[in-house]
Amino acid sequence: MAIENKIVVSGIRSTGKLHLGNYFGAMQNYVKMQDDYPCYFFVADYHSLTTHPDPKDLRASVYRVLSENIAAGLDPEKVTLYAQSDIPEIPELYLMLNMLAYKGELEKVPTFKDKVRQNPNNVNAGLLTYPVLMAADILIHRASLVPVGKDQEQHLEMARNFAQRFNSRYGELFPEPQPFNFGDALVKVMSLDGSGGKMSKSENENATIYLADDDDSIRKKVMKAKTDSGPIEANSLMPEYIASLFSLMRLVSAPATVAAFEEHFNQCTIRYGDMKKQLAEDMIEFVRPIREKAKALELDAPLLQSILKRGAEQARAHAAFTISEARKLIGINYY
Ligand code: ADP
Ligand code: TRP
Repeated sequence: MAIENKIVVSGIRSTGKLHLGNYFGAMQNYVKMQDDYPCYFFVADYHSLTTHPDPKDLRASVYRVLSENIAAGLDPEKVTLYAQSDIPEIPELYLMLNMLAYKGELEKVPTFKDKVRQNPNNVNAGLLTYPVLMAADILIHRASLVPVGKDQEQHLEMARNFAQRFNSRYGELFPEPQPFNFGDALVKVMSLDGSGGKMSKSENENATIYLADDDDSIRKKVMKAKTDSGPIEANSLMPEYIASLFSLMRLVSAPATVAAFEEHFNQCTIRYGDMKKQLAEDMIEFVRPIREKAKALELDAPLLQSILKRGAEQARAHAAFTISEARKLIGINYY
């Protein structure tokens, strides 16, 4: 049963292999929401163009995101699953919203500033207006709930601003979308390098656990995670890199296992080698079924194509209403 008919939208960029951050920040929530809400989930392939991927790689990247989401439990019969580039109403709304987005506010977005720092030779306009395209993705379905990780909080705030600006200038059309997570707070899955940064598709592959990783790579990556010789005083404060390991353990291990290692830490009897071995095995058990299912799905092009086609038809039909209302409100209504 739909809860108050709130519409759900979320997307994942087709920029590489999905990882535990994507799973626990976003995909896990998609799967939980699919029975209760009308859901629109998509592969953000236009967003991936900001970094100019090789055209030869695009199809495989899109198939991968799709396969890994279905392998993680998303049911294409229950949700509308599509590629962003199949919905021309999205770039149309993006153009309209661009007129309400200011250069100054876009330049202040932390993710934009990071990208400029990382890649000063590719500061394209698509990168600057990334949050406007994201707002169009969401508002095109008049969504209220957006399951995302903590790193997307600011982008959601901008989507709310653009919705408000449109509504107050032209008339009420868009609800204000809120970020959503089933727990109390949005999730940030930490990188294994102990730096305090988040796991991410492109940064430091050795500190990221991908859903496609085989058992041995997972073991190797976890065993390399930074530790030290252990606490010397009972109940001492955890260094950040140890706290990160515990936060990862909370995601994949049984609560009793986590509690046992916490107790060992507090009593100064912890052996980090044992903890990492346990963490690696629990991650392996978690990743294996998703990896195996995704591998099979990725090879089934006819199935993926039929899912994308049907998703595109459903999403376009839904988007068409929003665009025709937006055009009317703006005054584009000539004959
Ligand atoms: P990435 O940042 O790895 O390139 P995307 O930008 O495509 O991944 O993100 C897709 C979804 O996964 C978003 O909802 C994002 O918030 C979530 N996500 C990505 N990395 C993490 C992480 N380390 N912790 C929590 N959520 C994450
Ligand atoms: N910007 C998101 C990210 O980098 C991906 C994304 C694009 C998205 N459009 C969206 C997420 C719409 C939620 C809703 O992770």
